[in-house]
Amino acid sequence: MGEGAGGRSPLAPSPESHWQPPNIGSFSRRPISLREAKLDGKSQPLMKRLAILGSTGSIGQSALAVVAEHPQEFQVVGLAAGKNVGVLAAQIREFRPAWVSVQDEAAARELRETLGGFPRLEILTGREGAMAVASAPEADLVVSAMVGAVGLEPTLAAVEAGKTVALANKETLVAAGPLVMAAVAARGATLIPVDSEHSAIFQALEGQRREAVRRLWLTASGGPFWTWPAEKLAAATPAQALKHPNWAMGAKITIDSATMMNKALEVIEAGILFGLPVSRVEVFIHPQSIIHSLVEFVDGSVLAQLGWPDMRLPIAYALTYPRRLPLQGEPLDLGKVAQLTFERPDLERFPSLRLGYQAAEIGGTMPAVLNAANEMAVAAFLDGRLSFPGIPRVVEETMAAHSVLPLESLAQVLEVNDWARRHARTLIDRKAASATGF
Ligand SMILES: NC(=O)c1ccc[n+]([C@@H]2O[C@H](COP(=O)([O-])OP(=O)(O)OC[C@H]3O[C@@H](n4cnc5c(N)ncnc54)[C@H](OP(=O)(O)O)[C@@H]3O)[C@@H](O)[C@H]2O)c1
Repeated sequence: MGEGAGGRSPLAPSPESHWQPPNIGSFSRRPISLREAKLDGKSQPLMKRLAILGSTGSIGQSALAVVAEHPQEFQVVGLAAGKNVGVLAAQIREFRPAWVSVQDEAAARELRETLGGFPRLEILTGREGAMAVASAPEADLVVSAMVGAVGLEPTLAAVEAGKTVALANKETLVAAGPLVMAAVAARGATLIPVDSEHSAIFQALEGQRREAVRRLWLTASGGPFWTWPAEKLAAATPAQALKHPNWAMGAKITIDSATMMNKALEVIEAGILFGLPVSRVEVFIHPQSIIHSLVEFVDGSVLAQLGWPDMRLPIAYALTYPRRLPLQGEPLDLGKVAQLTFERPDLERFPSLRLGYQAAEIGGTMPAVLNAANEMAVAAFLDGRLSFPGIPRVVEETMAAHSVLPLESLAQVLEVNDWARRHARTLIDRKAASATGF
């Protein structure tokens, strides 16, 4: 990522230091907090108090599955969700949070009716509600797992409150990475990656010296269409795109995996989290999704993290870092995997990855535009209003129409996000109405 993009965090460590950015995970030198202090001469971690943003989603539910497996480790103090009232009500009954928020008043009314007055709790709504859950005074750690740029303000609220944030919501860092990292450092907050690729890199970097790193390698499954020719891609349907070969995830990220925009967002996310230009963040296709990512060092050594594709692993690591929790599940059996294969990405059939690198190199407000246009295009594809190749076309045309500015403030990011969404919607409407479609 170019300097203008803030691709290297302004607060990234000096080239001589260990891999211990003040703003991420802290690579095992973080002072032990009072809640983890020794009691009676023995190290007794107290329960970690969690707030989960996006609790009804794929990551939110996996996080709660980790909590349910280790009830002695965690207490859930806050849950924020959108409109899935049925799932949220069951979570409230099971985990008894003090803070709850939903997307709007209609969802709040429905939730009150579903809960039937039990347990008694105030239900917050909208942006303010999610921000209140994110900054709840009782929470030690906030899982940021809402989908899309709507997660930006609640994530920033958690950071502003000095929380440890287990970050799944990659759109936050893509849209406003340098601002988020500056706030992390200013508030003494901590970011720990949840994305499996970034968690793998985080794990491989532990204890390493910064100047020893040559490149980061992100792996990509290639999604459901990796082997499809361009002609067949032109007619790809939402149902086909939603069938990811390896991961069960929310709809938006599953479509992003099919276009490879997910990898583009992750390249930008990695540049910001680890303070490297994106020219040193490489991608290769690894259809088995067993190697979750790798770090290449200056001596040619490469360290990787492996495991079955199961988001409970990086989530649990983020929740208890630097400890590891035992998790139920089949141990990795490389004999069963038999083959690990690798290919170079194809930027012709999957132009979204190229657009991601371009947005990062241009920097400033451009990554926010890439992200916002993509959110609109994915929604239109899922609604049957845009073809599969139309997704990167809408993103590219929106980027081309944008006059890029240096990134300055949250208000500016929100404004640019709104502009890009409006512009993309106009393009989609025009194309949907035209005879040839898009
Ligand atoms: N799934 C994965 O394996 C995975 C892996 C790595 C990173 N991530 C990242 O993690 C994030 C979440 O992904 P996901 O797959 O868990 O998505 P998901 O299953 O679609 O869940 C999204 C969550 O966000 C909530 N939400 C959506 N709009 C909202 C709004 N306006 N206000 C409040 N809540 C809202 C949803 O609530 P309702 O459902 O109640 O409406 C749901 O709880 C994304 O940024 C994704 O890129 C996901």
